[in-house]
Amino acid sequence: MNTLSPALPQGGGRILEVSNIDTYYGETQALFGVSLEVASGEVVALLGANGAGKTTTLRSILGLTRPRRGSIRFDGRDVTRSHTHEIARSGVGWVPDDRRVFPTLTVRRNLDLAVKRTRFRAWTLKECFEVFSAMEYLMDRECENLSGGEMQMVAISRVLLGSPGLVLLDEPSQGLAPRIVQDVVRAVRRLRDEGVGILVVEQNVETALDVADRVCVLDRGTLAWTGPAQELRDDRALRRQLLAA
Ligand SMILES: Nc1ncnc2c1ncn2[C@@H]1O[C@H](COP(=O)(O)OP(=O)(O)OP(=O)(O)O)[C@@H](O)[C@H]1O
Ligand SMILES: [Mg+2]
Repeated sequence: MNTLSPALPQGGGRILEVSNIDTYYGETQALFGVSLEVASGEVVALLGANGAGKTTTLRSILGLTRPRRGSIRFDGRDVTRSHTHEIARSGVGWVPDDRRVFPTLTVRRNLDLAVKRTRFRAWTLKECFEVFSAMEYLMDRECENLSGGEMQMVAISRVLLGSPGLVLLDEPSQGLAPRIVQDVVRAVRRLRDEGVGILVVEQNVETALDVADRVCVLDRGTLAWTGPAQELRDDRALRRQLLAA
Protein backbone atom coordinates (compact mmCIF):
# COMPACT_ATOMS: atom_id res chain seq x y z
CA MET A 1 0.00 0.00 0.00
CA ASN A 2 1.21 3.49 -0.81
CA THR A 3 1.52 4.92 2.67
CA LEU A 4 1.38 8.51 1.47
CA SER A 5 -1.79 8.30 -0.59
CA PRO A 6 -4.77 10.11 0.90
CA ALA A 7 -6.90 7.92 3.12
CA LEU A 8 -9.64 6.72 0.81
CA PRO A 9 -12.96 5.75 2.28
CA GLN A 10 -14.81 2.48 1.86
CA GLY A 11 -18.47 2.14 1.03
CA GLY A 12 -20.72 5.22 0.92
CA GLY A 13 -20.13 8.73 -0.35
CA ARG A 14 -17.47 10.95 1.11
CA ILE A 15 -18.99 12.92 3.94
CA LEU A 16 -15.64 14.51 4.94
CA GLU A 17 -12.71 15.43 2.71
CA VAL A 18 -9.68 17.01 4.32
CA SER A 19 -7.16 18.03 1.65
CA ASN A 20 -3.61 18.95 2.33
CA ILE A 21 -4.15 21.15 5.39
CA ASP A 22 -1.45 23.15 7.18
CA THR A 23 -2.58 24.32 10.62
CA TYR A 24 -0.66 26.62 12.94
CA TYR A 25 -0.82 27.84 16.52
CA GLY A 26 0.59 31.32 16.11
CA GLU A 27 3.78 30.79 14.13
CA THR A 28 4.18 27.16 15.19
CA GLN A 29 3.05 24.72 12.53
CA ALA A 30 1.15 21.75 13.98
CA LEU A 31 -0.15 20.04 10.80
CA PHE A 32 1.82 19.58 7.58
CA GLY A 33 -0.25 18.77 4.49
CA VAL A 34 -2.66 16.38 6.20
CA SER A 35 -5.27 14.72 3.96
CA LEU A 36 -7.91 12.25 5.00
CA GLU A 37 -11.41 11.22 4.08
CA VAL A 38 -14.36 9.66 5.84
CA ALA A 39 -17.30 8.02 4.09
CA SER A 40 -20.84 7.86 5.38
CA GLY A 41 -21.17 4.65 7.39
CA GLU A 42 -17.44 4.37 8.00
CA VAL A 43 -15.33 4.57 11.18
CA VAL A 44 -11.88 6.06 10.72
CA ALA A 45 -9.50 5.98 13.70
CA LEU A 46 -6.94 8.75 13.95
CA LEU A 47 -3.98 7.48 15.93
CA GLY A 48 -0.56 8.78 16.90
CA ALA A 49 1.63 9.72 19.85
CA ASN A 50 1.01 12.61 22.24
CA GLY A 51 1.33 15.90 20.40
CA ALA A 52 1.10 14.26 16.95
CA GLY A 53 -1.72 16.61 15.90
CA LYS A 54 -4.85 14.47 16.40
CA THR A 55 -6.85 17.06 18.34
CA THR A 56 -5.58 19.79 16.02
CA THR A 57 -7.00 17.84 13.06
CA LEU A 58 -10.42 17.75 14.73
CA ARG A 59 -10.15 21.44 15.66
CA SER A 60 -9.29 22.24 12.03
CA ILE A 61 -12.36 20.36 10.75
CA LEU A 62 -14.55 22.25 13.22
CA GLY A 63 -13.13 25.65 12.29
CA LEU A 64 -11.85 26.16 15.84
CA THR A 65 -8.25 26.43 14.61
CA ARG A 66 -8.50 27.26 10.92
CA PRO A 67 -5.96 25.75 8.56
CA ARG A 68 -3.78 28.30 6.83
CA ARG A 69 -3.61 26.22 3.65
CA GLY A 70 -5.61 23.36 2.19
CA SER A 71 -9.34 22.72 2.23
CA ILE A 72 -12.06 20.91 4.14
CA ARG A 73 -15.31 19.71 2.60
CA PHE A 74 -18.23 18.38 4.59
CA ASP A 75 -21.25 16.87 2.86
CA GLY A 76 -20.04 18.18 -0.50
CA ARG A 77 -19.64 21.80 0.67
CA ASP A 78 -16.41 23.69 1.22
CA VAL A 79 -16.39 24.60 4.93
CA THR A 80 -12.75 25.69 5.18
CA ARG A 81 -13.76 29.27 6.02
CA SER A 82 -17.09 28.51 7.71
CA HIS A 83 -17.79 29.41 11.33
CA THR A 84 -17.81 26.65 13.90
CA HIS A 85 -21.52 27.15 14.67
CA GLU A 86 -22.39 26.83 10.95
CA ILE A 87 -20.35 23.64 10.70
CA ALA A 88 -22.08 22.24 13.78
CA ARG A 89 -25.50 23.26 12.50
CA SER A 90 -24.92 21.52 9.19
CA GLY A 91 -24.42 18.17 10.97
CA VAL A 92 -20.91 17.79 12.41
CA GLY A 93 -21.07 16.48 15.99
CA TRP A 94 -18.11 16.74 18.31
CA VAL A 95 -17.30 15.09 21.62
CA PRO A 96 -14.20 16.91 22.91
CA ASP A 97 -11.66 15.21 25.15
CA ASP A 98 -13.03 17.09 28.17
CA ARG A 99 -16.63 15.89 27.42
CA ARG A 100 -18.10 19.35 27.62
CA VAL A 101 -21.55 19.41 29.21
CA PHE A 102 -23.30 22.14 31.22
CA PRO A 103 -22.25 21.19 34.77
CA THR A 104 -24.98 22.94 36.76
CA LEU A 105 -27.84 21.70 34.56
CA THR A 106 -29.53 18.34 34.85
CA VAL A 107 -28.92 15.55 32.38
CA ARG A 108 -32.44 16.10 31.02
CA ARG A 109 -31.79 19.79 30.40
CA ASN A 110 -28.40 19.07 28.82
CA LEU A 111 -30.08 16.64 26.44
CA ASP A 112 -33.02 18.98 25.68
CA LEU A 113 -30.63 21.76 24.71
CA ALA A 114 -28.79 19.49 22.28
CA VAL A 115 -31.79 18.60 20.11
CA LYS A 116 -31.27 19.93 16.61
CA ARG A 117 -32.54 19.16 13.12
CA THR A 118 -30.17 18.82 10.18
CA ARG A 119 -30.61 17.14 6.82
CA PHE A 120 -29.47 13.91 8.55
CA ARG A 121 -31.54 11.54 10.59
CA ALA A 122 -32.87 12.74 13.95
CA TRP A 123 -32.13 10.45 16.89
CA THR A 124 -34.60 10.07 19.73
CA LEU A 125 -34.05 9.96 23.47
CA LYS A 126 -35.35 6.39 23.42
CA GLU A 127 -32.53 5.42 21.05
CA CYS A 128 -29.98 7.05 23.37
CA PHE A 129 -31.35 4.92 26.24
CA GLU A 130 -31.02 1.81 24.06
CA VAL A 131 -27.29 2.50 23.77
CA PHE A 132 -26.74 3.91 27.26
CA SER A 133 -29.32 2.16 29.41
CA ALA A 134 -27.93 3.62 32.67
CA MET A 135 -28.63 7.16 31.51
CA GLU A 136 -32.38 6.76 31.90
CA TYR A 137 -31.93 6.74 35.69
CA LEU A 138 -29.73 9.84 35.74
CA MET A 139 -32.08 12.26 34.04
CA ASP A 140 -32.71 14.47 37.08
CA ARG A 141 -29.11 14.54 38.27
CA GLU A 142 -26.96 17.60 37.79
CA CYS A 143 -24.08 16.90 35.44
CA GLU A 144 -21.43 18.10 37.88
CA ASN A 145 -22.34 15.13 40.10
CA LEU A 146 -21.79 12.52 37.40
CA SER A 147 -18.84 10.16 37.06
CA GLY A 148 -16.57 10.44 34.01
CA GLY A 149 -18.35 7.52 32.35
CA GLU A 150 -21.80 8.94 33.01
CA MET A 151 -20.69 12.29 31.64
CA GLN A 152 -19.41 10.59 28.49
CA MET A 153 -22.82 8.96 27.97
CA VAL A 154 -24.43 12.40 28.16
CA ALA A 155 -21.83 13.98 25.88
CA ILE A 156 -22.31 11.31 23.19
CA SER A 157 -26.10 11.38 23.54
CA ARG A 158 -26.02 15.15 23.03
CA VAL A 159 -24.26 14.55 19.73
CA LEU A 160 -26.80 11.89 18.69
CA LEU A 161 -29.72 14.22 19.46
CA GLY A 162 -28.13 16.84 17.20
CA SER A 163 -28.78 14.65 14.09
CA PRO A 164 -25.18 14.32 12.93
CA GLY A 165 -23.90 13.23 9.53
CA LEU A 166 -20.35 13.12 10.87
CA VAL A 167 -19.17 12.60 14.45
CA LEU A 168 -15.74 13.58 15.75
CA LEU A 169 -14.77 11.83 18.97
CA ASP A 170 -11.62 12.87 20.84
CA GLU A 171 -10.37 10.04 23.05
CA PRO A 172 -13.81 8.77 24.03
CA SER A 173 -12.56 5.81 26.07
CA GLN A 174 -9.98 7.71 28.12
CA GLY A 175 -10.32 7.04 31.85
CA LEU A 176 -13.50 4.98 31.50
CA ALA A 177 -14.36 1.64 33.08
CA PRO A 178 -14.31 -1.25 30.56
CA ARG A 179 -18.09 -1.66 30.76
CA ILE A 180 -18.62 1.94 29.70
CA VAL A 181 -16.00 1.65 26.95
CA GLN A 182 -18.15 -1.19 25.58
CA ASP A 183 -21.20 1.12 25.63
CA VAL A 184 -19.20 3.74 23.73
CA VAL A 185 -18.09 1.12 21.18
CA ARG A 186 -21.74 0.08 20.80
CA ALA A 187 -22.76 3.69 20.20
CA VAL A 188 -20.07 4.08 17.52
CA ARG A 189 -21.16 0.86 15.78
CA ARG A 190 -24.80 1.89 15.84
CA LEU A 191 -23.97 5.29 14.36
CA ARG A 192 -21.97 3.64 11.61
CA ASP A 193 -24.75 1.16 10.86
CA GLU A 194 -27.12 4.10 10.46
CA GLY A 195 -24.80 5.64 7.86
CA VAL A 196 -23.07 8.27 9.99
CA GLY A 197 -19.36 8.89 9.31
CA ILE A 198 -17.11 8.74 12.37
CA LEU A 199 -13.61 10.06 12.96
CA VAL A 200 -12.35 8.84 16.32
CA VAL A 201 -9.11 9.82 18.03
CA GLU A 202 -7.91 7.11 20.37
CA GLN A 203 -4.94 6.52 22.65
CA ASN A 204 -6.11 2.99 23.23
CA VAL A 205 -5.01 1.24 20.04
CA GLU A 206 -6.86 -1.96 20.89
CA THR A 207 -10.20 -0.17 21.31
CA ALA A 208 -9.58 1.80 18.11
CA LEU A 209 -8.78 -1.32 16.07
CA ASP A 210 -11.80 -3.04 17.55
CA VAL A 211 -14.16 -0.49 16.03
CA ALA A 212 -12.36 1.13 13.06
CA ASP A 213 -12.74 0.31 9.37
CA ARG A 214 -9.71 2.37 8.42
CA VAL A 215 -6.84 3.96 10.30
CA CYS A 216 -4.82 7.14 9.81
CA VAL A 217 -1.61 7.49 11.78
CA LEU A 218 -0.18 10.94 12.45
CA ASP A 219 3.46 11.50 13.29
CA ARG A 220 4.58 14.99 14.31
CA GLY A 221 1.90 16.67 12.28
CA THR A 222 2.17 14.59 9.12
CA LEU A 223 0.16 11.63 7.92
CA ALA A 224 2.55 8.71 8.39
CA TRP A 225 0.31 5.82 7.35
CA THR A 226 -3.19 5.09 6.22
CA GLY A 227 -4.90 1.81 5.44
CA PRO A 228 -7.52 -0.71 6.46
CA ALA A 229 -7.74 -1.41 10.20
CA GLN A 230 -7.48 -5.09 9.30
CA GLU A 231 -3.88 -4.58 8.16
CA LEU A 232 -2.90 -3.27 11.57
CA ARG A 233 -4.91 -5.95 13.35
CA ASP A 234 -3.06 -8.64 11.40
CA ASP A 235 0.43 -7.15 11.39
CA ARG A 236 1.91 -6.84 14.83
CA ALA A 237 5.28 -5.64 13.56
CA LEU A 238 3.64 -2.80 11.62
CA ARG A 239 1.60 -1.90 14.69
CA ARG A 240 4.73 -1.73 16.78
CA GLN A 241 6.58 0.29 14.15
CA LEU A 242 3.82 2.85 13.75
CA LEU A 243 2.29 2.98 17.19
CA ALA A 244 4.67 1.24 19.56
CA ALA A 245 1.65 -0.94 20.43
N1 LIG B 1 -3.38 25.83 21.97
C1 LIG B 1 -2.17 25.51 21.52
N2 LIG B 1 -1.21 26.45 21.38
C2 LIG B 1 0.01 26.14 20.91
N3 LIG B 1 0.39 24.90 20.53
C3 LIG B 1 -0.52 23.93 20.65
C4 LIG B 1 -1.85 24.18 21.15
N4 LIG B 1 -2.52 23.00 21.13
C5 LIG B 1 -1.67 22.08 20.66
N5 LIG B 1 -0.47 22.63 20.37
C6 LIG B 1 0.70 21.93 19.81
O1 LIG B 1 0.33 21.36 18.56
C7 LIG B 1 0.87 20.05 18.44
C8 LIG B 1 -0.25 19.04 18.22
O2 LIG B 1 -1.05 18.99 19.40
P1 LIG B 1 -2.41 18.16 19.50
O3 LIG B 1 -3.08 18.59 20.74
O4 LIG B 1 -3.14 18.27 18.23
O5 LIG B 1 -1.85 16.68 19.64
P2 LIG B 1 -2.61 15.33 19.97
O6 LIG B 1 -2.18 14.35 18.94
O7 LIG B 1 -4.05 15.57 20.14
O8 LIG B 1 -1.93 14.93 21.36
P3 LIG B 1 -2.54 14.22 22.69
O9 LIG B 1 -2.49 12.75 22.41
O10 LIG B 1 -1.60 14.63 23.75
O11 LIG B 1 -3.95 14.73 22.89
C9 LIG B 1 1.70 19.80 19.69
O12 LIG B 1 3.02 20.09 19.41
C10 LIG B 1 1.12 20.77 20.69
O13 LIG B 1 2.08 21.16 21.61
MG1 LIG C 1 -5.38 15.41 21.74
